[in-house]
Amino acid sequence: MQYHFYVNFANWVMQHCHHSVINSSRGTITGNMAKETKLEDIVSLAKRRGFIFQASEIYGGLAGFWDYGPLGVEMTNKLKAEWWKAMVTESDNIFGVDGAIIQNPKLWEASGHVAGFTDPMVEDTVNGKRYRADHLAGVDSNDLKELSGLLEGKVSPDGNPLSEPRVFNMMMQTWVGPVQDSSSIAYLRPETAGSIFTNYENVRETMRAKLPFGVAQIGKAFRNEISPRDFIFRVREFEQAEMQYFIRPETQKETYEQWRQFAWNFLVERLGIAEENLQWHEHEENERAHYAAAAHDIYFKFPQGFKELWGTHNRTDFDLGNHQRVSGRELSYFDEATRERFLPYVIESSVGLSRMLLAVLVDAYREEEINGDTRVVLKLKPELAPYRFAVSPLLKNKPELVEKAREVYSALKKKYGNVMWDDNGNIGKRYRRQDEIGTPYCVVIDFQTLEDDTVTVRDRDTTEQKRVSSAEIVKG
Ligand code: GAP
Repeated sequence: MQYHFYVNFANWVMQHCHHSVINSSRGTITGNMAKETKLEDIVSLAKRRGFIFQASEIYGGLAGFWDYGPLGVEMTNKLKAEWWKAMVTESDNIFGVDGAIIQNPKLWEASGHVAGFTDPMVEDTVNGKRYRADHLAGVDSNDLKELSGLLEGKVSPDGNPLSEPRVFNMMMQTWVGPVQDSSSIAYLRPETAGSIFTNYENVRETMRAKLPFGVAQIGKAFRNEISPRDFIFRVREFEQAEMQYFIRPETQKETYEQWRQFAWNFLVERLGIAEENLQWHEHEENERAHYAAAAHDIYFKFPQGFKELWGTHNRTDFDLGNHQRVSGRELSYFDEATRERFLPYVIESSVGLSRMLLAVLVDAYREEEINGDTRVVLKLKPELAPYRFAVSPLLKNKPELVEKAREVYSALKKKYGNVMWDDNGNIGKRYRRQDEIGTPYCVVIDFQTLEDDTVTVRDRDTTEQKRVSSAEIVKG
């Protein structure tokens, strides 16, 4: 279907520049190409434009590891800042921590991860390749009996017989200190939550916190995934943003609902993700992690289908209880008002940053026909785009244009920070490049600028171009 964007520029100016319009023009967008976004589209854009590269690419890469380039790190930092603002800065009773990645291994014994942090695995009996049994069986389950039944008579992707499913521990091991024996084994944390539980009492005491209160952390986590796949969706090293909310046990139901809603609202309101791309998934008992009494995931419509993006879990007093028992340290809470002593329950909110970034990119990705050409455009929320403005002189070999453009660039950069100087190729190419990385506004300085100090501002989504006074665009 053909359609045109008609934007009321007066509104646009009110929103973005507050001031004078001198003239306007726009390209004609003739429809969103009816094409499902494929993961390869995102992988290719991410590499081409400097978002994400294969880790140690020049050595052939390493499965499950990715490096973030200039634009990827910029966007991830924005996602983290948004989460931190919503979770910690705007809250009265949620405190941040930044724990070590490697902790005393007793932490992970007490939390049940050394014994129970497993995924079900099957092996191709001919070539030894390993697979997630639940993925091959097409179910969300850790139940070996169920999986064995479902996989009976099935073959591996290479057409060979499969072994019986068995459990595989995902903890990544290392050694601490100069001696490498069993006494020096330590683990790279599989979730950031661990050091939140072990610091529960430190935070409570130093912040004089009373229930309910939360502790939040953003940091790296490591899992030896059996089959890392789908780009940055399932990786072996990733960042998590987690918050543990410590509560009185009798408030578990409403608190759980509150944090479920928080996750949904954050994705829709703060990240601008379309609600039709989200759905709830409640964990069945045989699917839940060993610590969870209830779990609801938000699934996002990734190119490979609806998959887990963000989990809310009721961890009860499982963690504090185990840490109290194994460490011998008192972790119960004394409520002065009711004179009761008890172990707090914990509602957890947990999301992976790489999945969040992938979801935001997929949600924003469009291919559109414009003036007979195809353009790729990331329709990101302006606050999340790697760059807010790109500034160009119309011609880079005209010193007077370059000088004026530099002036506008410096002023915008001083105000917004994330502003790109782009004088490469012709204007059309610059617009395409900026569309691909989601830059909301391109500012072009031309000969008319030298006469009346107006610049052309081109809107990413509508491709509309307007003349605006340069002072006003800087003023915002
Ligand atoms: N502390 C609870 C916890 O770690 P989880 O469901 O195992 O729960 C929480 O992980 C979130 O971390 C997931 O919803 C997902 O966004 C992210 N995540 C988990 N494993 C991941 C992996 N291998 N690669 C990328 N992100 C992952």
